[in-house]
Amino acid sequence: MKLLVTGGAGFIGSNYVHHHLENHPDDQIVVLDKMTYAGRLENLEGLPEDRCSMVEADICDRETARQTVEGCDTIVNFAAESHVDRSIEAPGEFITTDVFGTYVLLEAARDAGIRHLQISTDEVYGSIEKGSFTESSPIDPSSPYSASKAGGDMIVSAFNHTYGADSLIVRASNNYGPNQHPEKLIPLVVLNALHGDPIPVYGNGLQVRNWLFVRDFCSAIDVVLEKGEAGQVYNVGGPDEKTNIEVVKTILEMAGQDESLITHVEDRLGHDLRYSLGSEKTKGLGWEAQVSFEEGIERTVNWYRDNPEWWGALRSGEYREYYEKQYGTKLG
Ligand code: NAD
Ligand code: TYD
Repeated sequence: MKLLVTGGAGFIGSNYVHHHLENHPDDQIVVLDKMTYAGRLENLEGLPEDRCSMVEADICDRETARQTVEGCDTIVNFAAESHVDRSIEAPGEFITTDVFGTYVLLEAARDAGIRHLQISTDEVYGSIEKGSFTESSPIDPSSPYSASKAGGDMIVSAFNHTYGADSLIVRASNNYGPNQHPEKLIPLVVLNALHGDPIPVYGNGLQVRNWLFVRDFCSAIDVVLEKGEAGQVYNVGGPDEKTNIEVVKTILEMAGQDESLITHVEDRLGHDLRYSLGSEKTKGLGWEAQVSFEEGIERTVNWYRDNPEWWGALRSGEYREYYEKQYGTKLG
């Protein structure tokens, strides 16, 4: 098989490229990535050059999408603007990439007669106080990010329903692990803890997320790619639900820091209280998460501790500006 992996230089996409090539020695991958602030060539280091190539391009560029799809057997689309806080500040790019870009890829896949697997999120279901969402739960997104992802999902379903396209969706809960940009909670807390910097906790910190180690998500994607049915949605939730404050305290302890670094700051606008996903349908295909939160968070903290060259450059560039704008006044 030859896969086109869009957004493959980002956090989950790059973990997936490594995972898939390690587990499918005969397969090849073409990564197509715009290399936004979130795309990192470092994430693709160490891959076999004869089995992995890279095209720097925008998924919204129809002609490049059409050309790049040629000779590929399937598209796995990770490309997206992915951070809720940035979507609150500037939603436009989210709608362009996550909705229109998805449509461009779907058309390229339909013309080539190949499968399109859309990587989506539990956030399209909105917040849930008790119980868990299933694949038949209604879509009710709250943020510009989740609304854009929901828009992308709706087009994926429409292409299947209307044209019989071989398109399907996986919706994952919050991922964590190596290569994640420090704008997201877990790497932000790890890096701030390692530097002894204050940890910004939005509101009371009692929001709940369903944490999934990224390599477990990668194995679910391969199972769905192989056994999933066109037109279907597959949820992939992590084994553990934690409040944000629990996550922060665990990381502080592992980093040898005390809780005085915790700084409660103004809450996120429209903040979803709890996400929770039921994954029975995906488990029915033979997938099961292997990594508990305790194990995954230890692996993650150790990875950031051992790879300062990965985050060193990040902390001084665009992220520094973003961080100042996002947290400067909040942290005082
Ligand atoms: P990320 O921000 O780390 O990576 C996104 C990648 O897409 C980057 O490499 C970026 O350069 C690329 N990209 C952005 N716009 C593009 C465009 N127009 N054309 C081509 N490439 C473009 O994101 P991530 O956390 O790895 O998330 C990957 C996917 O998984 C996204 O679709 C996201 O919605 C979904 N998802 C993420 C999580 C999570 O916890 N991170 C959970 C569920 C679903
Ligand atoms: P995040 O990693 O942005 O993922 P998502 O919003 O997609 O779930 O945030 C995870 C949770 O952590 C969310 O409830 C918001 C909270 N959070 C903080 O309290 N402080 C922070 O600095 C960040 C980035 C997130």
